[in-house]
Amino acid sequence: MAKRPVIIDTDPGIDDALAIAIALFSDELDVKLITTTAGNVSLENVTNNALKLLSFFGKDVPVAAGAPRPLIEPLVDASNVHGVTGMEGFDFPEPKTELLLKENAVNAMRRVIMESEEPITLVPIAPMTNIALLFSMYPEVKGNIKEIVLMGGSASRGNKGVMSEFNVATDPEAAKIVFDSGLPVAMAGLDVGWNALVYPQDSEKIREMGKTGDMAYCLFKKYRGGSFGTGLKMYDSCAMAYLLCPEMFTIEETFVDIELRGEMTRGCTVVDLKGYLKKAPNAKVCTAIDGDKFREWFLDSVSKCI
Ligand code: BDR
Ligand code: CA
Repeated sequence: MAKRPVIIDTDPGIDDALAIAIALFSDELDVKLITTTAGNVSLENVTNNALKLLSFFGKDVPVAAGAPRPLIEPLVDASNVHGVTGMEGFDFPEPKTELLLKENAVNAMRRVIMESEEPITLVPIAPMTNIALLFSMYPEVKGNIKEIVLMGGSASRGNKGVMSEFNVATDPEAAKIVFDSGLPVAMAGLDVGWNALVYPQDSEKIREMGKTGDMAYCLFKKYRGGSFGTGLKMYDSCAMAYLLCPEMFTIEETFVDIELRGEMTRGCTVVDLKGYLKKAPNAKVCTAIDGDKFREWFLDSVSKCI
């Protein structure tokens, strides 16, 4: 079977690093391009981290740097969760700087999408600034996009605000442009990530899984997304899980809008599961995940990495 062509838009980030590893070593995905955006830490750091990961994995995927800040508001990063550089705890090889394109993320995405014989799947696992700029500047790309599978939002509570998840809350206007795009959108949100947990016994197994396992173990010791003892939340891997093993999710087709004006709820994904807004569905929302299946899939996926 032909591999599915994807572009990953990311801000590595410890859980991004694992999601990227899984995608790069999957038999089913062909990672055509990695684009970076300011989010967990600065654009400079996340781009450097993406290049370090590719150097570590020995993979020659082009990288294009994108937005240094959200569309409207200043960046408020998540270095409290991922460490100051975004991927602390492991001594990575030098970044593979030759993979960094001169083109910015928006132009690189446009080119890769327009040149692809098969429609591309976009996988944003970061604030969606780059994708919003892409759709605003080059709406013609929509004709060759199969689907957007994103990690972001929540059908429940938030982690950046009471009701808002980090990737959406960091750039709510960008998220709105994505959900309003008219393209098929699948949302693996924060609340399913709460049950996509890696427990200490899993981490010990991962540690024995070669180079990637060792790296992951070291990063996990620093990651503040959950706790090493009671379970680490692999948010961004949920987007890859949706692509590679959708059976683990309960999925509801529904209408999602982004709260832009709320005094306390800006950046909330308003997931209209009961149809109050009387709008046609614009997204497939993951409302639950089978945690055991996730763990099994996650360990198996990491074991396929180098
Ligand atoms: C999301 O925010 C980031 O910190 C993680 O990498 C993930 O993409 C979870 O809210
Ligand atoms: Ca991320």
